[in-house]
Amino acid sequence: MISIDYTNVMADTIGERDGLLREELLSLKYILREAHYRIQKNLDKQYYFLKIPEIDTTEIKEYANYVKENFEYFVLVGIGGSSLGTEMLFQSLKWINYNQFHHPKFYVLDNVEPEKVASVLELIDINKTCFNVISKSGSTIETIANFMVVLDLLKEKVGEKWNKHIVITTDPDKGFLREFAKKHSIKTFDVPSNVSGRFSVLSAVGLFPASVVGIDIDDLLDGAKRMKQLCLVEEHVEHNPAYLIAVLHFLANMRRKKSIAVMMPYVERLSRFVDWWRQLWAESLGKDELGQTPVKAMGTIDQHSQIQLYREGIKDKIITFITVDNPYRDIKIPENLPEELGFLKGKTLNQLLKGELIGTKAAFIKSKIPNLTITLDKLSPYNIGMLIIMYELATAVSGFLYKVNPFDQPAVEEGKEFMYAWIGKKGYEEKLEELKDIYKERYKLKIK
Ligand code: PA5
Repeated sequence: MISIDYTNVMADTIGERDGLLREELLSLKYILREAHYRIQKNLDKQYYFLKIPEIDTTEIKEYANYVKENFEYFVLVGIGGSSLGTEMLFQSLKWINYNQFHHPKFYVLDNVEPEKVASVLELIDINKTCFNVISKSGSTIETIANFMVVLDLLKEKVGEKWNKHIVITTDPDKGFLREFAKKHSIKTFDVPSNVSGRFSVLSAVGLFPASVVGIDIDDLLDGAKRMKQLCLVEEHVEHNPAYLIAVLHFLANMRRKKSIAVMMPYVERLSRFVDWWRQLWAESLGKDELGQTPVKAMGTIDQHSQIQLYREGIKDKIITFITVDNPYRDIKIPENLPEELGFLKGKTLNQLLKGELIGTKAAFIKSKIPNLTITLDKLSPYNIGMLIIMYELATAVSGFLYKVNPFDQPAVEEGKEFMYAWIGKKGYEEKLEELKDIYKERYKLKIK
């Protein structure tokens, strides 16, 4: 179960200058109706991400079992939408000490930063490693470069059976990785062609690695299906969680100048959830000089770092807190305390954490900072599945509100083209000229 408390976003709590009126929420009724209709009509097209929870997981689970039984290490090679979702599932449902007590041990090669790549390669035994190379396009340069490094090692150390150490997750029909897999008889999973990377975590992209590390992917999908079912039936903003999230943020942005959306869980296991959401929100909605800047914070750590700014700096933020009612573990604060700490007697760390959140929220109300709180009864695959669909659909619906296409990322391309030009890829000669023309280091301070 999850709940969304948006009392502190409303004008009757924090005033009309910063808070929203109920009439404003309801005023978007017609555009939501249009969005609702268009989403239903295009479920097999751009909104296919809502259908992927219906996937049959038999093959995924069977192959995950094979990997569990035959390998000591499992390394995901992928970046952006091809890695963030899996890292989010791993961190929220397995946690950091998984590798100490379980196998296959799980690592991610996303960046091409050599220190990171070298460190991961030092931690694994290549002969006992399965690599899951994930790329929708099959051509993302970071993923392909890391894959080539790994492939070379596999060929050298494992010999002719190197292909048995690789699973490729990519577009069903096209791209370099699909061709490569065909040519070398490599096990593959599909990324549905009408689902872009950041909406793909509930396909084999996230489900296969999640299943390898022992996450109950059927429970995850049940939660996703429940949220989808609710959101596809209910059109009213006050009853549809995804529409509510979209509308609160859109109105706070466009009518109250809240151009920054902060997500601040009081659960460290959800730190990667924020990274996943940050990509979804930024890459989908940051277009036509619109969109909110998503910012990551962590309770209570950022109480000692960011709260001063959030309360007394520019009033340009809307905050989402996330909390879990029943954490897996709690720790009792010892009884024999110095007198001045007597108020902590009999309390637990979780009670203190709750107090910290309540204290922060009360302080925000006083400073008129709009904030909402999402509460999970527990950190289960089911609840994470619900959150995933809720935020994916909220992002898609925000596309209607801002009138932008949430499924493309045209501004990402040009940097890639300049990189190809700089590194010497054929066909990019003109781009190289343009690069030379605009890229100058004119003002530079050198210090010895
Ligand atoms: O959301 C997206 O489409 C992107 O962020 C991609 O996930 C990212 O660029 C990686 O692309 P690919 O999966 O094609 O390697």
